[in-house]
Amino acid sequence: MEKEIRMPNHIGIIVDGNGRWAEEQGLSRSQGHLAGFKRLKELCIYAQELGLKYLSLYVFSTENFKRNKIEVKFLMDLFSEKFHSEFQEVMDLNMKIIFSGRRESLSKKILKEMDIMTEKSKNNTGMVINFCINYGGQLEILDMTKKICQEVVDGKIKIDSIDLETISSHLYQDLPMLDYIIRTSGELRLSNFMLYQASYAEFCFPKTYFPAFTNEKFYQAIVEYNNRNRRFGGNAS
Ligand code: FPP
Repeated sequence: MEKEIRMPNHIGIIVDGNGRWAEEQGLSRSQGHLAGFKRLKELCIYAQELGLKYLSLYVFSTENFKRNKIEVKFLMDLFSEKFHSEFQEVMDLNMKIIFSGRRESLSKKILKEMDIMTEKSKNNTGMVINFCINYGGQLEILDMTKKICQEVVDGKIKIDSIDLETISSHLYQDLPMLDYIIRTSGELRLSNFMLYQASYAEFCFPKTYFPAFTNEKFYQAIVEYNNRNRRFGGNAS
């Protein structure tokens, strides 16, 4: 009998390679992002079917604002359009959508769609999808530090009582630690993705551009995770 697969509790995906995939196919970068979105949607549905509880997706870093204006605008329009058009399906699939990142620099239009998605899906009990948009891990740590300092100044928390729970609950989202981080396209970098939550994560770097990262390839990555021996700093078992 086939051995049952053990799902990580929280997977992070660094979505990478839309542009290079498009170039290889003789398509525009925009077409690459559209193909990336299509793949992402199918992958989310599949991940929920496999029993995943938390999925964090790095789709736009704070640094991505340095890209050319046309590409940034295309991506921002794509995000707001898709958050609007996919809303009913998210509800039908019972998924809960949350966001991590700074709100500043995001347009009113996209913020509105993000807020509607968050509010309406907040009581859904299926997989939690955490979209990292205008996100940077160092800035998240900086923002968390400022929030805690302010609460100390206001007398709401005492310095001695600050512990790891305090840190988690002052990050953009109070999420479990990442178990597994998958970065497509073969790049071997974390690129400022969920630095605190990545503390003990296992890594997987498939050499596939994101639009070609099929459900089968995702499943293979989970099989690879099942073969890892996670020790969290303890002895080998
Ligand atoms: C990185 O690949 C990918 C991005 C910056 C954008 C990812 C966005 C999507 C897949 C669309 C998601 C849609 C919604 C609604 C959340 P790259 O284009 O930098 O690839 P390259 O490194 O090959 O140039």
